[in-house]
Amino acid sequence: EKMKTIIRNPTIVTASDTFIADVLIDNETISAVGVELDVRDATIVDGEGKYLLPGGIDVHTHLDMPFGGTKTCDDFYTGHVAAAFGGTTTHIDFAIQPKGGGLKDALNIWHEKARDKAVIDYGFHVIVTELNDQVLAEIAELPAQGVTSIKMFMAYKGILQVDDDTLFKAFEMCRDVGVLPMVHAENGCAIDVLVKHELAKGHSDPIYHALSRPAKLEGEATGRAIALAEVAGSPLFIVHMTCEESLGQLRAAQDRGAKIYGESCTHYMFFTLHDLDRPDFEGAKWVCSPPFREKKDQEAIWKALRNGTLSVVSTDHCAFKFDGQKSLGRDDFSKIPNGVPGIEERMMVMHQGGVNDNRFSLNQLVALTATNPARLFGLEGRKGSIAAGYDADLVLWDFKAHATLSKENLHSAVDYTLYEGHVVKGVPQKVWVRGELVVDGETFLGQPGNGKFQPRKVFEV
Ligand code: URP
Ligand code: ZN
Ligand code: ZN
Ligand code: ZN
Repeated sequence: EKMKTIIRNPTIVTASDTFIADVLIDNETISAVGVELDVRDATIVDGEGKYLLPGGIDVHTHLDMPFGGTKTCDDFYTGHVAAAFGGTTTHIDFAIQPKGGGLKDALNIWHEKARDKAVIDYGFHVIVTELNDQVLAEIAELPAQGVTSIKMFMAYKGILQVDDDTLFKAFEMCRDVGVLPMVHAENGCAIDVLVKHELAKGHSDPIYHALSRPAKLEGEATGRAIALAEVAGSPLFIVHMTCEESLGQLRAAQDRGAKIYGESCTHYMFFTLHDLDRPDFEGAKWVCSPPFREKKDQEAIWKALRNGTLSVVSTDHCAFKFDGQKSLGRDDFSKIPNGVPGIEERMMVMHQGGVNDNRFSLNQLVALTATNPARLFGLEGRKGSIAAGYDADLVLWDFKAHATLSKENLHSAVDYTLYEGHVVKGVPQKVWVRGELVVDGETFLGQPGNGKFQPRKVFEV
């Protein structure tokens, strides 16, 4: 049985407000927010001089996922421990439709992966890989299973890529049933040709991964997906946007009044394609799709985060160990498993690069990492803010404490961090998931199995 907890005098930060008050946690929920709350039998936590943020929501992660001839190295336990230490209390993972199977099969497989391991709360998007009438009908049945978003890939030819008729038919169905479609927008057909050209020239190093996936092909696919969604009359969420070309398409669609939303991922603001150009195959750690871009693209992302063109910052946490996994592509960049870790680092580096470095406000940090993700993905009213009636998913944030990010003090099962040696000011000190204190300083207190699947509401933004 959980006790009542009162957090005294933190500076509460929501997407719209910053104010000092007490927060009362009663069992799993926030039961009151107010000044000088008078409560007996409550554990008191001193929040003075700290921020209290809504727990982070990461709507783009890949835990325990088979990909690139191997499997991501974080499962729903190690990934959740890392997330919790980073101040993330809910994530939405991707369940992949198996070859020859349906969407329910995908969900059954992923529910099994999370069962008994989960520490933080979670939901699923379903990745549609093959569409027929039966699968189309299954999209309509997803909301009843608490799943209100699907994803399709316009890249990874021969593996996950779908064609335009699949995209269009799925968008039409999504429109009718309140499911938000998501796309990975890169022109996979052209990329496939470019990759073969590079390999034929004997170019095998990691940098050729980035050079064979030009920004123009992300811009093209983004524009195409938006056009298909506009004609179908469906909303659309574009994942991991990286460059001026695609952000321009997003902005133009929003200016037309279309319900098109965009996400970028933490790492794109901190690294460029030149990070892939390192000796001893080290650049493989930076191999992900879309690839890292140029300085001007980073600036375009920061600007789009600041002015609201982009709604969400997620991690696309897709961790492969350098030793034994990234190394599968030592002689051929196209065999390097695509993906980078970051589930623990997100809140700290976005607070550093965004708030401390004056690129956007603290309220915007909360909007981008919790409130907007909750609103777009059907968790509004329950998660993503701090108010009476909300789940007590909370982060007591010590904005004066410094930390040096390093593989040595992070918690993922992966054997590196892109941010090795990066110094941040501002770290999570205590983290609660539905009222359960799961992180207290360096100590992990969570229990596997306590994280719960979160059924989500249909899209109605
Ligand atoms: O390289 C990446 N991003 N790997 C994860 C799968 C995806 O495309 O999101
Ligand atoms: Zn992707
Ligand atoms: Zn350059
Ligand atoms: Zn991804």
